[in-house]
Amino acid sequence: MTACGVRKPSMKITFCCTGTKAEPWLLGLHSALPGAEVAVWEAGAAAADHAVVWAPPQRFFDEQTRLKGIFNIGAGVDALLKLKLPPQATVVRLDDAGMAVQMAEYVCHAIIRHFREFDAYEADIGAGKWSYRKPLERSDFPVGVMGLGVLGARVAQSAAQFDFPVMGWSRSAKKLNGVRCFAGAEQFKDFLSETRILVNLLPLTPETRDIMSLQTLSRLRSGGYVINVARGAHLADDDLLALLDNGHLAGATLDVFRTEPLPSEHPFWQHPKITITPHTSARTLRDQSIAQIAGKIRCLEAGRPIVGIVDRVRGY
Ligand code: NAP
Ligand code: GLV
Repeated sequence: MTACGVRKPSMKITFCCTGTKAEPWLLGLHSALPGAEVAVWEAGAAAADHAVVWAPPQRFFDEQTRLKGIFNIGAGVDALLKLKLPPQATVVRLDDAGMAVQMAEYVCHAIIRHFREFDAYEADIGAGKWSYRKPLERSDFPVGVMGLGVLGARVAQSAAQFDFPVMGWSRSAKKLNGVRCFAGAEQFKDFLSETRILVNLLPLTPETRDIMSLQTLSRLRSGGYVINVARGAHLADDDLLALLDNGHLAGATLDVFRTEPLPSEHPFWQHPKITITPHTSARTLRDQSIAQIAGKIRCLEAGRPIVGIVDRVRGY
């Protein structure tokens, strides 16, 4: 009720997440925002105040023109920003919400699996061989993390906990404990030439598309290793294959691909130096995401500031 006793219209939240089971999200959002009307979007539905989205169709935004907030249930907004969005809406990405620890464990696992030669041990054990390999020098495996945002910073600091030399590269200059930070296009070559294990945690933008190419990956130290956990379009697939086949790169762990699911005929499936996973390095955790989104909706409604707002011009 308002002060003069008129019933305040309830806030409307529309849910449009392709490939996501709606019911538990609706229940969760409803209990986190009691009084709000929460419903799955249908063509022709009334205008909502806020939208919770993943891969919505353009028609959704063509109809929902009065949105105040658009909440993406992932960290990456590259697909969302391809659509024509209502200009007044604040676009918000997930800010960690349980993804940073998952990303840190995935990337550290890949680094350690490579550095400790667990694949070679597994092959030996499979062949009934009890054999030792000479321990490698950690200092020969400097890790370079591209992107030092919410996920990249956590990953870089987690790798540093295992005493690897760690470097990071971002657009603006940063200071991170245990991480040598590089910034901007002018420091990119130096960052690459000191890196042996390259981890990609950049957002996909016009500036970063195809950033891992023959030219850039050739700058990595010999025996380089690539871990791509950001987006498939950051990586030139054929260039990676050429550098694996000529021996400059020792291997790759890839979680993301230009086309997902990865087409069955793609050479990555069978390549002996490539480990693939099905875009699972850091999953959206429903309860934490709902709590974060509901908190931010309350803040926006109250005119309070929030973090995680996407800069549409910058692209992330
Ligand atoms: P974020 O917080 O926005 O961080 C992005 C980082 O990249 C920032 O440090 C930014 O620099 C840097 N950057 C952007 N453009 C750059 C450029 N042109 N040159 C150098 N550095 C640049 O993003 P996040 O939350 O860490 O997520 C990163 C990406 O991970 C997402 O966009 C998504 O694509 C991917 N992701 C994948 C999965 C998965 O399961 N595989 C899960 C979640 C996210 P500044 O700090 O200077 O701005
Ligand atoms: C997943 O890829 C995300 O962007 O959250």
